[in-house]
Amino acid sequence: MKVLLTGATGYIGSAVTDHLGAAGHQVVALVRGAEPQPGRGWYAQLVGDTADPASLAGAVTPDIEAVIHLAPPSGDAATDLAVIEALTAPLRGTGRPFVYTSGVWVLGATGEDQEVGEERPTDPIDIVGYRPRIERRVLAEAAEGVRAVVVRPGIVYGRGGGIPAILVDRARLQGVPEYYGEAGVRWPTVHVDDLAELFVAAVYFAEAGTVWHGVGESAVPVRELARAAGQVAGVTTAPHAVPAADAAAVFGPLFADALALDQSVSGAAARTALGWQPTRPGAVAELTSGSYAG
Ligand SMILES: NC(=O)c1ccc[n+]([C@@H]2O[C@H](COP(=O)([O-])OP(=O)(O)OC[C@H]3O[C@@H](n4cnc5c(N)ncnc54)[C@H](OP(=O)(O)O)[C@@H]3O)[C@@H](O)[C@H]2O)c1
Repeated sequence: MKVLLTGATGYIGSAVTDHLGAAGHQVVALVRGAEPQPGRGWYAQLVGDTADPASLAGAVTPDIEAVIHLAPPSGDAATDLAVIEALTAPLRGTGRPFVYTSGVWVLGATGEDQEVGEERPTDPIDIVGYRPRIERRVLAEAAEGVRAVVVRPGIVYGRGGGIPAILVDRARLQGVPEYYGEAGVRWPTVHVDDLAELFVAAVYFAEAGTVWHGVGESAVPVRELARAAGQVAGVTTAPHAVPAADAAAVFGPLFADALALDQSVSGAAARTALGWQPTRPGAVAELTSGSYAG
């Protein structure tokens, strides 16, 4: 299958490229620069910028059998909706998959109760306030004959990257492991290779108009992640709770709020309905004895 992939140079996009390639698919990468990037495992490279929707006209050619859209939105509603229009219009009436990447932050704080599933109404935190509208716009394409699908990853880890790498860097820099928000804050997490397999499964099996949580572990205590990040950084002191104002000064108020968000999110539906099987080590194990060492 020939798959158009936006965000192909990124953290998740690199893993998705690997897993699509391993499954025998051809990745057509949509990237910002014209500079050739050999060695990435792509079949072809197209130039396009999601800040300029007009640059995407013609990206989805008739031989493209699926689109996975990973490039982040700009936050400008008109631009972001025009991007969805440009990427989905050529798929109308084909039944071909269009997989949009959102994130679990659109659910907001989930509370102490049971982990929440895809049926939970969105209540986004400010950093992703614009995202539910894009999700709705994507899902509306189901009525136009596009197999429109939304994947919401949890906090992605593995391959030494993602937000957990920030915890390691901060522990190294400050000489103490840090976490943000209340002591009981939990993050839903997913290994980047497990997540990449979910994107492949979604391309094959997800029905039009569906939403899937890409979550391997529903609620990992961030204090445990911080402790593990400290271990990687060679810092064995107990994790330190960073006050909100200090976190905002380091990360900006929106990202600081996101780091302090307490969530418990279920990824069970994708396991049951799409046959997704996350198999990689959990986030704490990956930090202490996996790709973050060294
Ligand atoms: N990482 C997580 O924990 C996580 C969790 C939930 C959801 N997500 C979502 O997943 C998506 C991918 O995340 P990531 O962690 O892989 O991010 P990333 O490593 O920052 O990669 C972003 C990718 O998007 C591309 N991109 C950025 N702006 C673009 C533009 N204007 N036009 C075209 N391409 C552009 C980048 O290309 P360049 O090489 O040109 O910069 C890069 O390939 C994002 O939408 C993110 O919000 C991530």
